[in-house]
Amino acid sequence: MSNPSGSGSGSWYETLTSTPVLIATAVGVSFAAIFAASSSGKTPEQIKTQAKEVKNVATSSTDAKGKAAQAGASIMSAPAADLAPPKDDPISASTLSQYDGSDPSKPIYVAIKGRVFDVTAKPEMYGKGKGYNIFAGKDASKGLGMSSLNLEDAVSDYSSLNETQMNSLNQWESFFEKRYNIVGKVVQ
Ligand code: HEM
Ligand SMILES: *[C@@H]1O[C@H](CO)[C@@H](O)[C@H](O)[C@H]1NC(C)=O
Repeated sequence: MSNPSGSGSGSWYETLTSTPVLIATAVGVSFAAIFAASSSGKTPEQIKTQAKEVKNVATSSTDAKGKAAQAGASIMSAPAADLAPPKDDPISASTLSQYDGSDPSKPIYVAIKGRVFDVTAKPEMYGKGKGYNIFAGKDASKGLGMSSLNLEDAVSDYSSLNETQMNSLNQWESFFEKRYNIVGKVVQ
């Protein structure tokens, strides 16, 4: 999704309609729909219908997450219950770059506004060749704010973001804070 509230705007999805990311995430949306429906006291038939509807929309529409949200599905994973206290250890950009998912034996880190989050638990999203690998091993605050998966936007300087984009970045920050351990801080 382009922002954690599922209400992103802009043209980000136009660049994605034929990529594996869309397919993978669309499947994610329909699973989320089944999940949402199963916890809402619906009959199996209703759940099946709803899941099918969301899946159809997700695979055909350019606004999958909006429609999924309308169908009552949450496309967000649950917050983590067992986060460690945030660490302040200095991590250089060059050290950070070693945690980009290219070595499966190493952790995967994503930094937002200089704080380094450990996303090792989600190799299917941030691992090598995966849809969100663009954010791994670096601070890509600007790209998150812009809802952009373009390499040139995946940089730490987010000073160009406007108010809407700043909101989006702040929402991602809070999404990550609730789900991933902070293992350090990016230093020069
Ligand atoms: C067709 C477009 C897109 C769809 C259908 C989509 C869908 C999804 C879904 C279903 C998830 C899983 C949520 C979860 O498991 O918690 C997700 C996560 C995510 N999406 Fe997207 N997304 C799209 C585009 C984008 C774009 C353009 C960005 C750029 C900022 C983006 C950034 C993210 C991030 C950072 C996560 C969080 C992964 C995590 O740590 O759990 N998405 N998306
Ligand atoms: C911020 O920029 C985006 C992308 O150019 C645009 O869609 C949005 O309307 C802008 N928001 C504000 C408040 O200027």
